[in-house]
Amino acid sequence: MTVREIFETMDYGTAPESATDALAWIAGTGPRFGHFLGGAYREAGETFETRNPATGEVLAEITQGTAEDVEAAVAAARAAQPGWEGLGGKGRARVLYAIARLVQKHSRLFAVLESLEGGKPIRESRDIDIPLVARHFYHHAGLAQLFDTENAGRKAWGVCGQIVPWNFPLLMLAWKIAPALAAGNTVVLKPAEWTSLTALLFGDICRQAGLPEGVVNIVTGDGETGAALVASDIDKVAFTGSTDVGRKIREATAGRGLGLTLELGGKSPYIVFEDADLDSAVEGLVDAIWFNGGQVCCAGSRLLVQEGIAEAFHAKLKARMDKLRVGDPLDKSIDVGAIVDPEQLSRIRALVDGTDEGEIHRAACEIPEGCFYPPTLVTGLSQASRLMQEEIFGPVLVSTTFRTPSEAVQIANDTRYGLAASLWSENINTCLDIAPKIAAGVVWINGTNMFDAAAGFGGVRESGFGREGGPEGLEAYMRPLHRGDALEKAAAATGEATEPQSVDRTAKLYVGGKQARPDGGYARAVFDARGTLIGQAPIGNRKDVRNAVEAARGASGWAGATAHNRAQVIYYIGENLAARAEEFAARLDRMKGGTDGKREVETAVDRLFTWAAWADKFGGEVRSVPIRGTALAMREPVGVIGAICPDEAPLLGLVSVMAPAIAMGNRVVLVASEPHPLAATDFYQILDTSDLPGGVANILTGSHAELAPVLAAHMDVEAVWSFSSTDLSAEIERRAAGNLKRTWVNDGRGRDWFGPAGEDRAFLGHATEVKTVWVPWGA
Ligand code: NAI
Repeated sequence: MTVREIFETMDYGTAPESATDALAWIAGTGPRFGHFLGGAYREAGETFETRNPATGEVLAEITQGTAEDVEAAVAAARAAQPGWEGLGGKGRARVLYAIARLVQKHSRLFAVLESLEGGKPIRESRDIDIPLVARHFYHHAGLAQLFDTENAGRKAWGVCGQIVPWNFPLLMLAWKIAPALAAGNTVVLKPAEWTSLTALLFGDICRQAGLPEGVVNIVTGDGETGAALVASDIDKVAFTGSTDVGRKIREATAGRGLGLTLELGGKSPYIVFEDADLDSAVEGLVDAIWFNGGQVCCAGSRLLVQEGIAEAFHAKLKARMDKLRVGDPLDKSIDVGAIVDPEQLSRIRALVDGTDEGEIHRAACEIPEGCFYPPTLVTGLSQASRLMQEEIFGPVLVSTTFRTPSEAVQIANDTRYGLAASLWSENINTCLDIAPKIAAGVVWINGTNMFDAAAGFGGVRESGFGREGGPEGLEAYMRPLHRGDALEKAAAATGEATEPQSVDRTAKLYVGGKQARPDGGYARAVFDARGTLIGQAPIGNRKDVRNAVEAARGASGWAGATAHNRAQVIYYIGENLAARAEEFAARLDRMKGGTDGKREVETAVDRLFTWAAWADKFGGEVRSVPIRGTALAMREPVGVIGAICPDEAPLLGLVSVMAPAIAMGNRVVLVASEPHPLAATDFYQILDTSDLPGGVANILTGSHAELAPVLAAHMDVEAVWSFSSTDLSAEIERRAAGNLKRTWVNDGRGRDWFGPAGEDRAFLGHATEVKTVWVPWGA
C-alpha cells in the first residue's frame, strides 16, 4: 500500500498484542485452577473449560465450586474478619494501597488476560478497565484511611458474598472488593463462569500485597455456586448481573437480615436533541453501544433522536458504523471484539432475528468467522417492540424519534429499567432541565460511559438498588454499630365492647388529603389500657392500600416543591401538634396506660423540627472525578414509600417515619400502630390544618400482617419500610422482588424512638436515591 493510498483510505494494519506472558501465567499457575481460598490456591476439583471466545481455543480449566467449597471459603472469611476490621482504617488503607500499586505494576498481564478470556478489545482492557481498577483501589485506600473518623457509629457487615458478571470481570471485582475491604469486611467472591482468570490472578496480587489470609477468597463456578454462596452464612450480598437472577437473590435473602445491593440490567436511553453537536454524538454512540460489544449494563442501547435531524443523524451514524473494525480482541487497532461466549451470541441472534419490525442496518465492515456479531442499528421500531424494551446485551442499537423534549422524557422513561442516560445538546439548559426528569441512577451530559471511584453508580426501578463508588458505595458495606434489641410483639388492649364510649369520634382512614371510610366497611373496637372502649378504628384492606397508593402517586408535585417549602409545611405540622399537645398527651396516656404521653408529644414536635431542618440540607454533593468535568451526586426522593409504623410509640413513631420521608420529597402510605391506631387518626386532623398537599401523607389503620404484603407487592410503590413489632421482614422482602423495590425492615429489632436512633441519619439515606449527573465543567 502506498502512502497516498493510506491517506486516501485511512486504512491501517493490524497491531497485535502478544499473549505470551498471559499464557505463561496460565500454564504456570494452572492450567487447572482451584479456588483461591485462605490465602492460597487450592487443588482443582471438578472442572469446566474456559475458552478464548475469539478463537474457541481452551485456555484453562476452572473448578466448579461446590456448596462445601463455599462453606470453607465463608469459614476462612469469617475467621479473618475480626482481625481485618481490628487493623483499623489506617491499617487497611496500607494494604489497599499496595493492591492498587500491584495492579498497576501488572496492568498489562491483567489487560491481556481479560481480553483473552472475555473477548473485549485490548484497547479497552488496557486503557479503561485496568486503570479504573487501580483507581478504585487507590480511592478506597483513601476511604479506609479516613474511615474511623468519618464513620462513627458504623461498622462492617462482616462477611460479604459477592457475585460478578463476565462483562467487566476485574472492574466489577474491584467495585465489590475495594469498598468491602475499606470498611473492614472480608469477602468471598464468585466470578462469572466465562471469565474467572483475572479474579484468580487477583488472588495472587492480594497475597503479594500482604493481605491477611482469608480476607479475600475467590470461589469459581457457575450459577449454582452463586446460589450456594447466597444461601451460605454471610452477612451481605452484592450482586451484578441479570435482573432475573437479581430477583431470585432478593427472594433467597428475604428475612435473613442481610445487607443487599443489586446492580442489574438496563436499556439506557441515548437522547440526541436537534441542537446537539452531531459528530460528537455519533462518536459518543460508538462508546455507548459498541464499547465492549454492547455487553454493558449501562450501554446507551436505545437511541432517541429528535425528528428533524433523524435522517441526517442516522446517515452519519451508518457511515461511522461501516468504518468500525471488528476482530481479534488482542489487535490494538480494532474497535469491537468477540462476543463473550457462543451462548451469548445465540441470545443476541435470537432476539434480533425474532423481530419482524423495523429496518436493520448491519455495519458493512468485515466480520470474522466465529463468536462475532456485526454492529447493528435497528430503526423504525414501535415503543412496545421487544427490541425496544429488552436488554439485548450485544452490539445492537435500537432507534426511535421524538418531537419535543417532554416526549423524549416520556419515551426515555417508558421502560422497567432505570440505570443510565446520555443527553446530547449544545444547549446546557436543555440537558439540565431533562436530567432530573429521567428515571436513572446515572446521567451523562454530552458524554457517555464515564465511570469513577468517587462517583456512585447504580440504578433505580428494575435496574436494582444500592450504589457502587463514592461514599454511598461505601455506605452499603456498613451497618449500624448498635442494632437494637429484640422487639416483642405489641398486643392491643382488650375489653368489653358494650361499655359506653368516653370519646365519641369516628376515626377514618386518611387518603388523598380526605377522610375515607374503609372499603370493607369494618372497624375494630379499640380499648384503653384499663379495658374501656375508646373508639373504633377502621380496618383497611387491599383496596384501601391501592387507593392510598394512587393518591400518593397523584401527589407527585410534592417532589418538585422547594426544600424550603417542604420544611415550612413540616414546621407548621409541628406547630399545630404543639398547640394541641395536652389533648394528644392525655389520649396517649389513656391508650397506653402510662404517663409518657407528654414526653411523646414533645419529642414528636421536636422530631418534626429536626426533619424540617434537614429538608434543605441534604441536597447532594459535587464529586471530584478525574475528567474535565464534574459529577453531581444529587439526592432525589425515592418516590412512594409504604411504611409500617412502630407499634410501641403510636404518635412519635409515625411522625419519625413520616417526617424524613416527606422532608426529602417522597409521598407516603403509613400504616399506623396496630394496637394503638387512634393516635394516627387523631394526627390526620393536624395534617389537615397544616397545608400539606393531599396525597403526600396517607394513613391507613388495620392489621400489619395483612396490609404490609399488599404494599410490598404493589408495583407503584418504590420502597417499603417496616418498624412493626409483627415479624414482617421475610414477607416484605420476598414480595418486594416483584418490582425490585427497596426495603428497610427491622428484622425483629426495636429502636429507641425517643433517643437519637429515632432521628438517625439513616432515614435520610433510605428516603433518597443518589443520581450521579456528569456535567461538562471548565475547571
Ligand atoms: P447472570 O445474571 O446469570 O450471571 C451473572 C452472575 O450471577 C454470574 O456470576 C453467574 O454465575 C451468577 N449466577 C447465575 N445464577 C445465579 C443464582 N441463581 N444465584 C447466584 N448467582 C447466580 O447473567 P448471564 O446469564 O451471564 O447473562 C444473561 C443476561 O443477563 C445477559 O444477556 C444480559 O442481558 C444480562 N446481564 C447483565 C449484566 C449487567 O451488568 N447488568 C451482566 C451480565 C449479564
